[in-house]
Amino acid sequence: MTKIKRLPKSVISKIAAGEVIERPCYVVKELIDNAIDAKATQIDIEIVDSGLTLISVTDNGVGMGETDLVLSIEPHTTSKIRSTDDLNTVKTLGFRGEALSSIASISTITIVSKRKNDDVGKKLTFNNGQVSIRSIGAPTGTHVKVQDLFSSVPTRKKFLKSQRTEFKHIIEIVSDFVLSNSTIGFTLSHNGKNTIAIYPNQSFLERINNLYGESYADNLISFSTTTTYLQISGWIGHPQISFATNSKLLVFVNGRKVSNTLLFAAIKEAFENLLEPAMYPAGIIYFKVPQQIVDVNIHPRKEDVRFSTPELIYQSAKESIKDVLTNNNLTFGNISWKKSEVGSHAGTLLKEELFAKEILGNSEIIQIKKLYLVTETANGICFYDQHAVHEAILFRKLKQSFIKKRHESESVPLDSPILLKLSLADREILWDNSQLLNTVGYFFDDFGDGTPIMTMVPQLLHDRNHEELITEMIESLSSSKPIKDIDHKSYRMLSYLACRSAIKGGQVLDENERRDLLAQLTNEDFVYTCPHGRPVKFEVSINQLHKSFKRR
Ligand SMILES: Nc1ncnc2c1ncn2[C@@H]1O[C@H](COP(=O)(O)OP(=O)(O)O)[C@@H](O)[C@H]1O
Ligand SMILES: [Mg+2]
Repeated sequence: MTKIKRLPKSVISKIAAGEVIERPCYVVKELIDNAIDAKATQIDIEIVDSGLTLISVTDNGVGMGETDLVLSIEPHTTSKIRSTDDLNTVKTLGFRGEALSSIASISTITIVSKRKNDDVGKKLTFNNGQVSIRSIGAPTGTHVKVQDLFSSVPTRKKFLKSQRTEFKHIIEIVSDFVLSNSTIGFTLSHNGKNTIAIYPNQSFLERINNLYGESYADNLISFSTTTTYLQISGWIGHPQISFATNSKLLVFVNGRKVSNTLLFAAIKEAFENLLEPAMYPAGIIYFKVPQQIVDVNIHPRKEDVRFSTPELIYQSAKESIKDVLTNNNLTFGNISWKKSEVGSHAGTLLKEELFAKEILGNSEIIQIKKLYLVTETANGICFYDQHAVHEAILFRKLKQSFIKKRHESESVPLDSPILLKLSLADREILWDNSQLLNTVGYFFDDFGDGTPIMTMVPQLLHDRNHEELITEMIESLSSSKPIKDIDHKSYRMLSYLACRSAIKGGQVLDENERRDLLAQLTNEDFVYTCPHGRPVKFEVSINQLHKSFKRR
């Protein structure tokens, strides 16, 4: 009964296009990718009916001549790579040469393009397999018009959400580009109405304000750090704002927006108990990673990357973010983070004030409703949840001793010892710290000439890549950063213990007990939340009081 037949080329291309171009926003993404690869400094996007009637992207990039223009809509034609080797060093956003041909197979596409030194531009129209080309007056750059998207693949159209939802996706995609290209201007309009307008060189902060509203950045802490493997910068959200999904966590790797589980996990882990377990932080985080260890060719829409040294990236990312969190005062309240980041003298003063010992020596501590403590602080007044405070302190202490004990007691021999290929300098650091490494669970023999052979490893980490881990550990040993780790089961056990042994709400505390409790809190750093992620204290700044009383 059955008879195998080869599908016509036009059908094959439609099927393939369906995989990548599922919705209008992916057309927008591919066209902006191309404009950025063409070195545009201004990109204007016009959308009609959420992209189903029109998607128009105009750039002032390098443009194309007639030959390239005709080739551009052919499948697998690209100017960006020549061989598979080039994939290891690809610096452009595109590299597969599929986007324009896919889009062309499911729409009516018109491209007008002119290079700087050409007298006239060229206009290409592609409709139902027919290419036509003619000369036309045009500015330097490229203008791509995609009309009647999906009209030839009605099934695809059926799966689209409401127009509002589809346009929301377009806004999100354009926003990602606005945030990852600080020197490019963008405009976006929908059905003739302007939605986004960003000038080239408009600052990151202005871009954030423009996209998310003025107060959003107040909850972000700006930072920039460099480790041996990574350069990480951007904004990380105060734990006070958190979300049930990671939709507010924008992660870019070498300028490409990615949805990368490894980096999401590293960032979330860095927050430890600052967030409730099921919540994600907000952030706009840029990772700069050596291109050789990033594989960009793993996702059909290029939305993810893979690292050849995942453990290393994970640890580096986690510790860097953790450092940022540790070095900032994270007391819940309505503190303006933006202001404390100002590099001016006033900014420095404000920062010192934030870090000043919170509780003023002799100020009274009041207990309210047998539940909360209130006292004057250097910065205003602070409310404490007596149970959460005690729970957080106990948890931190339990965890510290737990981590120590566990590493000391549990170490397993390796089936085949590992000969470590370290630089002479790293070798010295390793032998200098061998005692410390023993307490963590790592043991080494000398191969004879000083080359270390690893014989025992910590049970807790037995399934890791030890060569990588040790190399990284040596890095952090030389910078004296502690390495911390705790599994989820132990975490739950410790938080249960802490909760059960802490002072309860409803318990009356005398003056000494109150003072004692808050003194313990100020002597520990990084205690802003209980193990469940709820705040232990909430500060109202004196400025907020002034404002409430209309003193300014
Ligand atoms: N806006 C543009 N400006 C200049 N050249 C472009 C533009 N868009 C596409 N091109 C050219 O067309 C080629 C094919 O584009 P595309 O199908 O998106 O594949 P890719 O971006 O993966 O190379 C690109 O390699 C580039 O040379
Ligand atoms: Mg492309």
